[in-house]
Order: sequence, then structure tokens, then C-alpha cells
Amino acid sequence: MNQKFAKDFTWGVATSAYQIEGAANEGGRGPSIWDTFSHTPGKTVNGETGDVACDHYHRYQEDVDLIAGLGVDAYRFSIAWPRVQPEGKGAWNEAGFDFYSRLIDALLVKGLQPYVTLYHWDLPQALEDEGGWRNRDTCHRFADYAAEFMRRYGDSVKTISTHNEPWCTATLGHATGQFAPGYQDEAMAYQVSHHLLLSHGLALQSMRALNSETPVGIVLNHTPTYPANPESEADRQLARLDDGTNIRWYMDPIFRGAYPQDVLAYLGDKAPKVADGDMAIIRQPLDFLGVNYYTRGYFSQANPQIPAPAAMGLTDMGWEVYPQGLAQHLVRITRDYLPPPIYITENGAAFPDRMEKGEVQDPARIHYLETHLQALRQAMELGADIRGYFYWSLADNYEWNWGYSKRFGLTYVDYATQQRTLKASGHWYRDFIARQRA
Ligand code: FCB
Repeated sequence: MNQKFAKDFTWGVATSAYQIEGAANEGGRGPSIWDTFSHTPGKTVNGETGDVACDHYHRYQEDVDLIAGLGVDAYRFSIAWPRVQPEGKGAWNEAGFDFYSRLIDALLVKGLQPYVTLYHWDLPQALEDEGGWRNRDTCHRFADYAAEFMRRYGDSVKTISTHNEPWCTATLGHATGQFAPGYQDEAMAYQVSHHLLLSHGLALQSMRALNSETPVGIVLNHTPTYPANPESEADRQLARLDDGTNIRWYMDPIFRGAYPQDVLAYLGDKAPKVADGDMAIIRQPLDFLGVNYYTRGYFSQANPQIPAPAAMGLTDMGWEVYPQGLAQHLVRITRDYLPPPIYITENGAAFPDRMEKGEVQDPARIHYLETHLQALRQAMELGADIRGYFYWSLADNYEWNWGYSKRFGLTYVDYATQQRTLKASGHWYRDFIARQRA
């Protein structure tokens, strides 16, 4: 890469609570929908759960040392709502807040900036029992939780995101059933998506009402779509519809205050119920936008199963390595939405890593990182306002329905001993960041 990133560009690594913390029944934590789901037979690979995960709840200091050792500026992590409010309403759990206070202090002592996400999929089960995100009341419970977090930590954290990837919660959790709570009902999923967006708007309002200056935003997963045959009108339409459901369905209400017409037409009577005033609540100004990018979508009418060309290969998730999608997408959303400063809040790849003689050689991950950082640089040269990059993930962890079978980390985790070993890619990322600053 010829040109360097600016000195004040933020480098980081990311994780989420259920994927690393473990200690599912400690410190007064209440159950979440992921505890219920992962303990239901048949829902996850080998029936694996996040009960122990990376045992980060007990090993957070070692993990903070690991993060500091990478020479990054920032650490993105999430708060387990059921740890700080076991029932999702009512009493706060001080032992839960104590854990996050210790973690945040440990980060600050090392000069690391905390980038916090309030909701990375672990809804308190008590709220699910009352209808979860299908129930509009959950939006108000979320706004209360957000305000309480801001009240306590607004002065010590760098940014606060409301949701991580609401598309996943809505679609994978309520339409395909791959994720908790595991429903399979498209209309329900769209009602949930509306409630997630509404809860985001209400949370921005409740946090800003405290007069805090802490930047607030949201993290969206963007999988830009491509027609297999750009000459085919049918392929273009398929790609356009998927762009509508995964990208514009979230971006349009946030930035323009309306759902996209083509998706509403596709949904017909499956479209969500929207109360008067909801769209204005959703359309709050953002201080930043978080974009998670892993791969692209590839669409053919004639052959729905068509594999993407994958000239640069596939990851262990079966996701095509397609860095140019990141560059093109960032330029496109800059043009279409005039967004606030953007952070790449997740980008990374799983590969079947193995420890050999105490080392993990993962050249494919280094290649993934290098090419995506090049794409990022290119998007910035073309005018996209990108302020930071967070690799997913700091360490191998619990990959949801895939259990422990997918390794995304810069750090290898031996789950039997909980020993952490920095992979070759971790060394590469550390050296890359050092070069940017030299
Ligand atoms: C994202 C999730 C994150 C992790 C990565 C691989 O969709 O936000 O928790 O599972 O994918």
C-alpha cells in the first residue's frame, strides 16, 4: 500500500459479549435468548453454547493486555443487557455494572478507547417471554437501558452504538430461524425490524436527553449485491431487491425517514405496522455510522444456487473474499446518503487455523486483511469519510449457530486450556499499524 492512513485514523479490534464472556450464571446475570436458543437441541453445531466461551469475564485483564499488545487505539465490545438488568426492566444489577466498570477502567489505564455496543443480540429472556422484539414495549425498555448506560458511562467511553446488525436480529432471528429466538415468519421479521429501528431512535433520544456529548450511532451489516449477469434484467432485479431488504431497509428510514418503496411493494401485507410519528423518531441524526463488511451477495435468476466467481477464494464460512465490494459500497453510500463519519466496525475472515509448534500460520487471513485495507484506502481517496477500522475479531470465539467451529480471531484460543496465542495475522496487524504511525 503506497499511501498511509492518517495518523489519527482509529485502529481497533472487535468482540461481543455472548461470544466471549462466558460466566453465564455468575454475578447475577439473567438468561438471554441466546442461552435459551443454544441450549435447545439441534440449534447450534454440536449443541455448543456460550456458557464458557473465552471465559473473558474472568480473563478480561489478560485480554486487555493482548489488545494493548497489538498497538491498537480502540476496542469495540458489547454490553450483555441481562448482565446489567437481568429482567430487561426494573432493578439494575450492580455486580454486572461492576464487571463493565473494571473492563472499561482496565482499557483506559492502557490508553485504549472503549467503543461500546448496547445490543449485540442477547435480549433478556424475561423480555422475550413478553414478546421480545415483536412487542413494541421492548423499544421503551431498550431506551431506558441505553439512558442508564449513558448516565453511568457516558464520560468514560468513546462512542455508543445502539444495535449491532439489526438485519440479523430481524431476519436470521425471526424469518430463517438460524439465530435466537428462532422464529420462521417473514411478516414477523419485518415487524421486528421496525421495532429495532424504533428502539434505536428512542435510545438516541433518551441518551441525548442527558446532554451527553458522547457520539452515538448504529452498526449495520452491509452485503452489497451484484447481478451474476449484469446484462440480465432479471438478475439486476434480484440484486436490487436484496439490496433493498438488507441495506436500504435500514439506511432509508435512518437517513431519509421512509422505508424503500420497492421493498414495501414486495412485502405487500407483510409490511410492518408503523404508528404515526415512528419514522420521525427513527430519523435521528447520527454522530457516526458503523458498517460491518464481510462479503458481497451474488444473484442469478436462472440459477439461484450459483456460486460467486470467488477469484480470491472463499473463507471457512463459504463467504467470497471480495475486497472491491467494500470500496465500491463505501463510495456508493457516501453518494446516496451523505452519511456522518463512518467506522468499519467489523471486517474479518474465518479460516481453519491450526496450532503447530506453538504458532499459527494464517496467510489467507493476512491476505484478506491486506486487500480489505487497500480497498478501504481506495474508498477514502474517492471521498468516503472513514475514521476507523475494527478487525473481527480479537480472538477466536463463539460464532453463534456455528458454535466454536469457525475461527475469526487474530488470536488463537485453545478452548480446553483457554490459552491465547497471537496468530501470524495478529503480528501482521500489529506491524501494519506501527508502520502507519512511523
Ligand atoms: C457478524 C456479527 C459478529 C460475528 C461476525 C462473524 O455478523 O456481528 O458477531 O458473528 O458476523
